[in-house]
Formats: sequence, C-alpha cells, structure tokens
Amino acid sequence: MTPENLIVERVEPGIQVIKISRPKALNALNTATLEELDEVLRSASSDASIRVVVLTGDGEKSFIAGADITEMQHKTPQQATEFAGLGHKVTKHLELMPKPTIAAVNGFAFGGGTEMAIACDFILASANAVFAQPEVGLGIIPGFGANVRLAKFVGLARAKEMIFSGRRVKADEAVAIGLANRVFPAEEFMARVLEVAQQISRNSHSAVACAKRILNESSESVGLTSKLDTEARAFGGLFGGGDQLEGMTAFVEKRKPGFEGL
Ligand code: CAA
Repeated sequence: MTPENLIVERVEPGIQVIKISRPKALNALNTATLEELDEVLRSASSDASIRVVVLTGDGEKSFIAGADITEMQHKTPQQATEFAGLGHKVTKHLELMPKPTIAAVNGFAFGGGTEMAIACDFILASANAVFAQPEVGLGIIPGFGANVRLAKFVGLARAKEMIFSGRRVKADEAVAIGLANRVFPAEEFMARVLEVAQQISRNSHSAVACAKRILNESSESVGLTSKLDTEARAFGGLFGGGDQLEGMTAFVEKRKPGFEGL
C-alpha cells in the first residue's frame, strides 16, 4: 500500500523519517492517516534494517494540528471511542516498538499532535514549535493518550494546567518544563535531528532495544492498555451532542463556542 497522507523516507541507512502530509488541514489526523501510520509503524517495528524512526510534519508550519475536527464533529460516542482506540494503536507502536522513536516537532503540535509526540521516546523541537492540548475548548478531553502520558513528561500539575487551560507552550518553555529535550533553530532543524538519530543508530541495536524495554517497564508504560482504554471510553462519552457538538461546530464555522452555562 502506498500511503496517501504520509511521506515515508529512508534518509540514511537505518533511519526512517515519517512525515504526516495533509497540507490542507495542517497535517490533522483523520482515520485514513491513522490507518496508514498504523501500517507503516507496524512494519517498521519488525524491519531489522530500521534502527531509528523519526516522526515529523510535512511543510514549514505544522507538525500535527490534532485529530481532524471536521471528521470528528458528528461522531457518535461509540464511533469516537473507536477513533480514540485507533489513535491509541498508533501511539502504542511509537511507545513500545523495539527501536527508538523521535518526535521532530516542526510547528503546531496541538491535541493529537502533542499526543503523538509524547508517545515517542523523546521530543526534539524546532524553534517555531508550539504545543497545546486545546480539547476542552472543543467540549471534549484529549483522546490519544495525553491524560495518561503528559504527566510523565511535565509532571501532574503542569499536565493538568495544560489540559484544563488549553494554553499554548512554545519551544523554549517546552524544554524548560521537560516536554521537549532540545530546541534547534528552524533552518537547521532536520539536519540536527538526523545527527541525534545517527548517534543512536551507530550504537548496538539490541542494547538500545533492551534499554527502551527496561526504561518503559520501570515507568508508567505498565498498565498502559487499560489506562488508554479508560481514556477512550471517557473521550467517547463526551460525543453525541452538548458541548462537543457546539465546540466542534464552532471550530468548523470559525466562531467562538457557546458552551452550556456560559
Ligand atoms: N482538524 C481539521 N482541520 C483543521 C485542524 C484540525 N485539527 N486544524 C487546522 N485545520 C484546518 C483549518 O480548518 C483550515 O482549513 P480551511 O483552510 O479549509 O479553513 C486549515 O487547516 C488551516 O488552518 P487555520 O486557517 O486555522 O490556520 P491558522 O494558522 O490560522 O491556525 C491553528 C492554526 C492554531 C493550529 C488552528 O488551525 C487550530 O486551532 N486548529 C485546531 C487545533 C485543535 O484544536 N486541535 C485539537 C483537535 S482535537 C484532538 O486532537 C482530540 C484528540 O485528542 C484525539
């Protein structure tokens, strides 16, 4: 299958770069894109010739602007729960595959964008990177793992602040709070990311894979599936009308939402 919404490149022997490419929607993730990502990551996971996977966004402006709001707008609770489940399948590949995954965040990483990034082993940010979990402004909660993973990067109180407020976090602050490891100038971003990937790929593949497994086992990856399932059900439970429909319709109609009780 040739993906329509991804550009998959072998930049160096051993380094696979996956670019999300939906320029009209700032690389927002719809079902088709998530299915393609699932397929590409599944095959990367078992391909011994790939030593490091880099996830980034096509273009200069956006890494991933979140899940596709236009597609989500009219989902039922059941469909939204399944959609979150598909997002979780992808994030579990990134987190658990036996090779390092690097999020190269080169612009907007909103909602599902930050969630894909925090499922990777670590984040490298371009100077123009902006992170946010703006879901509550759409009448929903994050559905691709932020409720489970964000605190691992920034601590519980900062994760709560980001998720409750939806505020934007720029690259320098992202490094200061532990969300991103390093920030590189935009003009040399991919070259610097590839230097990091090369440094990893020159090491023992089996030792790096073993380190990843042990680091994951000694952190919150234990019990991951049941925590993500709980999130998917809570996410789906907010669909089918009310603030969710108002929030997403307001986005599509380019106006401010009028949430219940406001
Ligand atoms: N879904 C669908 N379309 C999107 C999108 C998204 N998440 N983000 C951007 N787009 C579309 C816009 O609708 C617009 O389309 P048109 O040209 O057809 O109008 C196009 O991309 C360009 O976007 P803007 O004109 O808004 O660009 P901007 O530079 O002015 O703003 C932005 C950029 C701040 C990222 C803004 O687009 C935005 O706020 N996007 C939504 C971000 C968001 O809320 N993401 C979370 C989604 S919910 C989620 O991810 C749930 C989950 O956890 C699974």
